[in-house]
Amino acid sequence: MKERTLILIKPDAISKRLTGIIIDRIERLGLDMKAAKVIAATEELARKHYSNLEGTPFLENVIAFMLGNFNGIEDHRIYAFVYEGENAVEKIRAEIGSTNPENALPYTIRGSFGALKNGVMQNCVHASASPLEAEREIALWFKPEEVLK
Ligand code: TYD
Repeated sequence: MKERTLILIKPDAISKRLTGIIIDRIERLGLDMKAAKVIAATEELARKHYSNLEGTPFLENVIAFMLGNFNGIEDHRIYAFVYEGENAVEKIRAEIGSTNPENALPYTIRGSFGALKNGVMQNCVHASASPLEAEREIALWFKPEEVLK
């Protein structure tokens, strides 16, 4: 079924200049980019995005990381995309690999480029976990008129 998904290139990948490689891998899945923006997340947005992590011991580190404060690097950019296509959620989740880069298959994005530092999984990319989550997340990061039909 045709569905949409939210993809975020996270600050670690941006600081490592991996954006081109990551977009290339996503494009090769045959999905269509419908929206793109450069954004500095506010704390409110980051907390809404990761509301599923409420109560976990790593939440505060993850929020700081998404705001661009990690390992002494201060880069506040996130690149956000909406991609659409057949089984988009599953295809992209397979391409990015497991949450923990140390467990991710080596040829996935997280397996190739991710790191575990100071207890935070610096795993380069976020991709929605389900079509329902995707719609919730897209509405957080984009206005409806910013996403092509
Ligand atoms: P989660 O939504 O569980 O995973 P995913 O990004 O694969 O959908 O977790 C969100 C982020 O929180 C994850 O990308 C990295 C971070 N995280 C940690 O730092 N430590 C952890 O133990 C977990 C589960 C996640």
